[in-house]
Amino acid sequence: MLRTHTCGELTSKHIGKEVTLAGWIQKSRDLGGMTFIDLRDRYGITQLVFNMESQSALCEQARKLGREFVIQATGKVAERSNKNPKMPTGDIEILVGKLEVLNSSATPPFTIEDNSDGGDELRMKYRYLDLRRNPLRQNLALRHRMAMETRKYLDSLNFLEIETPFLIKSTPEGARDFVVPSRMNEGQFYALPQSPQTFKQILMVAGFDRYFQIVRCFRDEDLRADRQPEFTQIDCEMSFITQEDILNTFEGLARHLFSKVKGIELDNFPRMTFDDAMKNYGSDKPDLRFGMKFVELTDIARGKGFGVFDDADLVAGISAESCAEYSRKQLDELTEFVKKPQIGAKGLVYVKYNNDGSVKSSVDKFYREEILKTWTDKFNAKPGDLILILAGEKNKTRKALNELRLEMGNRLGLRKPDVFKPLWVIDFPLLEWNEETRRYYAMHHPFTSPKPEDIVKMKTDPGAIRANAYDMVINGVEIGGGSIRIHNKELQKQMFALLGFTDEEAQNQFGFLMNAFEYGAPPHGGIALGFDRLVAMFGGSDSIRDYIAFPKNNAGRDMMIDSPSEISQEQLDELKLRITK
Ligand code: AMO
Repeated sequence: MLRTHTCGELTSKHIGKEVTLAGWIQKSRDLGGMTFIDLRDRYGITQLVFNMESQSALCEQARKLGREFVIQATGKVAERSNKNPKMPTGDIEILVGKLEVLNSSATPPFTIEDNSDGGDELRMKYRYLDLRRNPLRQNLALRHRMAMETRKYLDSLNFLEIETPFLIKSTPEGARDFVVPSRMNEGQFYALPQSPQTFKQILMVAGFDRYFQIVRCFRDEDLRADRQPEFTQIDCEMSFITQEDILNTFEGLARHLFSKVKGIELDNFPRMTFDDAMKNYGSDKPDLRFGMKFVELTDIARGKGFGVFDDADLVAGISAESCAEYSRKQLDELTEFVKKPQIGAKGLVYVKYNNDGSVKSSVDKFYREEILKTWTDKFNAKPGDLILILAGEKNKTRKALNELRLEMGNRLGLRKPDVFKPLWVIDFPLLEWNEETRRYYAMHHPFTSPKPEDIVKMKTDPGAIRANAYDMVINGVEIGGGSIRIHNKELQKQMFALLGFTDEEAQNQFGFLMNAFEYGAPPHGGIALGFDRLVAMFGGSDSIRDYIAFPKNNAGRDMMIDSPSEISQEQLDELKLRITK
């Protein structure tokens, strides 16, 4: 090996030892009589010292080396006169006696330190340099640790890791597919899997009983901080189980990861129905790190002559602790916030429960203080609290109030990245109505089983059918989702019909699954956790990009390899594709 030690392991116990290190020059300082070089590798940084008096030639050589040169240095470990307690190797330095330049380097376009001066796009273009920085290296090490612990946990429960193909047929997960033209089958295309959903179900028909895969999925959808066009799932499926078994098994996985990787022992995950989540938090992924549960005032607020409330389907609000002293400016800011087009509220009503016990509101004209007092009672508010109220159509109001609640959580510092509040959201609706296309869509996917007691509603009231579907939510982030599947061919047929598929279309797209169901499909169900989201959450970030070695930017481009890109005319000809512009 070109080194005896790494740059992260030498301490005072090595003093006097002759060592050889190899790595990159993080920075060098020339102090006349002495030259110092910080040598970096994956494991840390060690200070190298060159002495002008005793080794002038070597020192001259060292002075000429630039940032990111790759060198090998041999010398004696010595105690440092001014120690750096922030570095694991901060007690020692190496008095270099021999230096070998292994490679030179162009000047890097940004500083390779914990806080880099490079912009996003530049760092993505030179991803290999960005990955040399500590924070990114640590993120990928965290990712590795979590993948290893996931495999350990699932292996201990008899799950088999089985690979499924990437060149498949479209899977109906709700996003657009990325497609790949087939040279050997002119005019035909493969689709890259949005998830291995149908394959894992077929593995259950094949008797594998417990499957998992840490697997790449591809979805052509609009990108956000927590969405990449290719991302990774911990994808799982089990046979002969109930929903309860799945929740316990995967709550177990999350607890195992928190315990082994973060040293945090989580309590049992609470369960909340979709209906309660929407009613109390206006979201199917409530952030339970803080309170501010919704309180509905519809009955007591209507009929007092305030048109906005009188005409509203729902009047509801949240109580922000100790915010009664918010200034006019702060309240105006919140009003502007809820009126933003993406939030869509028409206005914001506030009620201040002042510290002196008086109650003051923006609707004093319509509601006397005694009436407002009944509102503050309903919120269980204390003197000093501020109540913020929105009104309008039920779902829109809940959605906007959810945004306001999260905004208040941010403003009050209640969404701490080192606090973890998981829960299961259960009993999702089976179907979602789309007003534009005037048809139902599967809320999860078409293989999700309705609750047996709701099957009777399939003909009469499909929108009211609840599914055996569940999401794992942590800190307001949808970490994973899954369901108990339909394993009965007839029920699956009914479901396709409800989703507007003709028999022929269903046969065409999912004939293979329906055929498999002819041969003894066991009762089964599963879940997929978004691995990138889980790792980012463990790392304390909302953005998954820095937890993926080679991510895409917001336009779906890989800046480093400059992709997507055009292909040659020969390739197009071979594929019998013609580009029309
Ligand atoms: P679902 O579509 O809910 O379920 O996906 C499971 C989890 O994957 C993560 N996820 C993403 N992460 C990053 N970027 C994306 N573009 C992205 N899309 C989804 C989320 C999500 O909760 N086959 C079903 C699972 C099942 O039923 O077993 C499925 O894929 O964290």
